[in-house]
Amino acid sequence: MKEQLAKIKSEALAAFDQVAAPAALDELRVKYLGKKGELTAVLKQMGRLSAEERPAMGQLANEVRAALESAIESASQKLEAAALEARLKAEALDVTVPGKAPKLGHKHPMYIALDEIKNIFVGMGFTVLDGPEIELAELNFDRLNAEEGHPSRDWSDTFYFDQDSRVMLRSQTSPMQVRAMDSMPLAIRIIAPGRVYRKDEVDATHSPMFHQVEGMVIDKNVTMADLKGTLNLLAEELFGKGTVTRFRPHHFPFTEPSCEMDVQCHKCGGAGCPTCKGEGWIELLGAGMIHPNVLRMANIDPEEWSGWAFGMGLERTAMRRFKIADLRLIFENDVRFLEQF
Ligand code: PHE
Repeated sequence: MKEQLAKIKSEALAAFDQVAAPAALDELRVKYLGKKGELTAVLKQMGRLSAEERPAMGQLANEVRAALESAIESASQKLEAAALEARLKAEALDVTVPGKAPKLGHKHPMYIALDEIKNIFVGMGFTVLDGPEIELAELNFDRLNAEEGHPSRDWSDTFYFDQDSRVMLRSQTSPMQVRAMDSMPLAIRIIAPGRVYRKDEVDATHSPMFHQVEGMVIDKNVTMADLKGTLNLLAEELFGKGTVTRFRPHHFPFTEPSCEMDVQCHKCGGAGCPTCKGEGWIELLGAGMIHPNVLRMANIDPEEWSGWAFGMGLERTAMRRFKIADLRLIFENDVRFLEQF
């Protein structure tokens, strides 16, 4: 029995020493110390020993058990340490690897153009206003002298929210003229950029949603000369010194007289080319002297005050400014396109 115990001890210790995985160690523990294990089997034979032999053998068996248990304990610690080591190695972070540069966005060409326009007008003492895209038809039309029956009020031209055509997506930024007149003390110098909506099909020059910049001045003794002087300056600042402009008579319900301003084509200098569709001129904005009816509806005395206003398409301005051929590129937001500006 003594030899048996010694054999179990040396075999077991050797096996524990070699063990490579926690599961294998567990198997060995069962093999030697389990209920049906080798040491247990030996202990079961104790009953056959004489009363003199039993205490010594019992002590020896206990020593073997203790030796095996502590060997298991240290083997298990060794395995745990090795597992931790392996994990640390696998999850190691190499802080010397070059980082990924965060991808910065790029300013949209239309907003570059808008910022330029804002700068020009803020420099002349104008205030920049922001207004609602969902607007009352009263402000979009009635207060702008566009009476019931005006063609732009038609359901096929305008997005309405309700059956009785009271609330709509604004078709122009001009209701901001009314909002400014209703809310600001005179004199007024404002611009109001923003989105507008019309029932247009999408093509290279049209979109059901686009942007305008409204501008308005109301003061004493304001004349058409002020309008032309300011808008000529705008054209030169946007498109370069010496940019030639042309004012053509036009009609808007809320201005009288009304005009459109063209700039001479930057490509051909007025001779006519594909950029200006052979015209030599490119239409930039609508403008005019504020109609006395519009002033009166805002409780402003047209005998005392006068004013002018303009509305320009922002996409078109950006397209001209950056020589972009197709309006749709402005809304697609393809970074390869945007990064060129
Ligand atoms: N609101 C007009 C349009 O959308 C432009 C305009 C604004 C004309 C101000 C005159 C004065 O066409």
